[in-house]
Amino acid sequence: MIVLGLESSCDETAAAIIDNGRILANVISSQLDAHKVFGGVVPELAARMHLEALHPLLRAVTAEAGIEPGAIDLICATRGPGLIGALLIGFAAGKAIAWALDKPFVGVNHVEAHMYANFLTETPPKPPLTCLTVSGGHTDLFFLPTVGRFELLGSTRDDAAGECIDKSARVLGLGYPGGPAIEKLAAQGRVAFKLPRPVIEGSLDFSFSGLKTAVINLCHRLTQQGLELPRADLAASIQEAVVSGLISQLRAAAVAHQAGTIMLSGGVAANGQLRNRAAALADELGAAFHVPPAALCTDNAAMVACAGLYHYEMHGPDSLGLGVDPGLRPGK
Ligand code: KG4
Ligand code: ZN
Repeated sequence: MIVLGLESSCDETAAAIIDNGRILANVISSQLDAHKVFGGVVPELAARMHLEALHPLLRAVTAEAGIEPGAIDLICATRGPGLIGALLIGFAAGKAIAWALDKPFVGVNHVEAHMYANFLTETPPKPPLTCLTVSGGHTDLFFLPTVGRFELLGSTRDDAAGECIDKSARVLGLGYPGGPAIEKLAAQGRVAFKLPRPVIEGSLDFSFSGLKTAVINLCHRLTQQGLELPRADLAASIQEAVVSGLISQLRAAAVAHQAGTIMLSGGVAANGQLRNRAAALADELGAAFHVPPAALCTDNAAMVACAGLYHYEMHGPDSLGLGVDPGLRPGK
């Protein structure tokens, strides 16, 4: 099946065409530079920029895939969670294309789509699976007894891991988004600062707001003392605190559910240290390990097309009367 996926939940407008699990074209128009000056995503600006980007992107994705619009069998667009104005642009466009081409349409959950990025391969993961989905907006641990069933085991009670990384990067003067910059700088530093563990002991939940505040307070204290920030050591310490917390809860979840497969997904899963430590954990537990290539960890539309295809095969098409849902939870 030839599937068109559209993604517009936050600050990336993306379109992709896949042929079953194979990516034919995967194009992204990033709004990063526009939002950078504000230190975060401005929702109204994001929605307007999606509108401007979408049409050229659709032309680019069909040209790159060498596909006429009429050859598309299924259209999928992100339904939620995300920024409502941003979601509406890609979702309305997807429904309009489906209506015009008289083809089926599926509304996709963005967090599920991050997990389905692992299925864009010839050897997809085999359930039962334990999956850590970790991005700028989400930090969730899921158990998947079968493909398409998502049991939430644990979640963040406040900030997402990516939010904590991005705000920490901001106080280090690294700009937005902070993840790649923190990772690069951390490689030149050592873990010199003891920071709070971002987990809720005795549960599979996370809490990143304490770590975020501790980093901000530490940087202010050092600055007030007239000291130059040891930025590489701070980056290494932040990365270590985030990755250790994520891995310890992933370990507890994988052990409790005896899942034969461990999976990572979401933008923070692009982090090399997290990938290495999760691979080592899977090795230790004798589990298979899957993580998408870094470019498919951050927001993209190939994962949306893949999630939509699985959804369509299990549940059939959605009605064109379906609306977006900014607070959509996986499995709903
Ligand atoms: O999945 P994503 O692209 O968007 C959301 O759905 O939120 O995730 C973006 C998040 C940002 O917080 C960004 O700083 C983080 O992923 N990120 C990273 C890395 N690359 C992106 N965090 C740590 N290390 C990275 N290499
Ligand atoms: Zn995302």
